Amino acid sequence: MMAKDFVNILDFTSEALRAMLERAVERKAAFEAGQLEPCLQRRTLAMVFEKPSLRTRVSFEAAMTHLGGHAIYLAPADIGLGQREPVRDVARVLGRMCDGIVARTFAHETVEELARHAPVPVINALSDRAHPCQAMADMMTIRQRLGDPAGRTLAFVGDGNNVARSLAALSARLSVRFVLACPAGYELDAEFLAGLPPEANVAVCHDPRAAVAEADVIYTDTWVSMGQEDEKARRRREFAAFQINAKLLAAGRDDAVVMHCLPAYRGCEITDEAFEAHAETVFEQAGNRLHFQRALLEMLLRS
Ligand code: CP
Ligand code: NVA
Repeated sequence: MMAKDFVNILDFTSEALRAMLERAVERKAAFEAGQLEPCLQRRTLAMVFEKPSLRTRVSFEAAMTHLGGHAIYLAPADIGLGQREPVRDVARVLGRMCDGIVARTFAHETVEELARHAPVPVINALSDRAHPCQAMADMMTIRQRLGDPAGRTLAFVGDGNNVARSLAALSARLSVRFVLACPAGYELDAEFLAGLPPEANVAVCHDPRAAVAEADVIYTDTWVSMGQEDEKARRRREFAAFQINAKLLAAGRDDAVVMHCLPAYRGCEITDEAFEAHAETVFEQAGNRLHFQRALLEMLLRS
């Protein structure tokens, strides 16, 4: 039985996550073969965004079009979540008009509050703590590149941020070894680490060369997440030794898969040369956002 919401990776068992990935891969193949069932006709998805987005917004909206439903994008100025009216009131109104809610928020508690009060499924489209849909699309990509990700090592070079946390959580559930290489002060937080399941193989280090040496997958994300713009100068200074570039990649395996969730800041977390050399994987990741979202919407909204 599928949970009502998709907010945190660790709300789901390994079996459930594996089944979701399986289903997303299968639905992608069906889509590519032109077999698309419009199973969400007359369904409406509300998309509440407190932050900008390209991939997440477009993938959910396109997925609803593919499935025969409709999506309504609600920009920050439209509803003033928590300002014009309380989050729990927005949840109860949208729950009476729409069949599902996608929310991109600053505080993670906001998406959790929406889920608690909305009678319809709520999907986390990124919060300051988590980006579960991204992690799922990324694992689809790893699966397509390397087969079953179990037993593989994923080295995340950069900030212990929302993307890193969701990838670490999903790695724990899928028997993937996860290593974060970051400057001091940017580690995965103690509360997150304490909440990982006992089977987790998650390590944090400050040496990017050591982290990538045995990695099957080398992953990076921006050093300055949305909402951290005031810290840009300091972060760029402190992360300088954690750039994905030719020298760092030479310390890794020749066949390592290099990934980025996008948007990419060339010359910061990745050089243009390294980015372009691995662009095919990176844009496959982006494309898989659409396929995972479509499978997720089918699973949550279809009943
Ligand atoms: N990767 C990702 O979530 O991109 P957007 O911020 O453009 O949605
Ligand atoms: N860590 C980034 C991810 C963007 C998709 C951010 O939160 O801005």
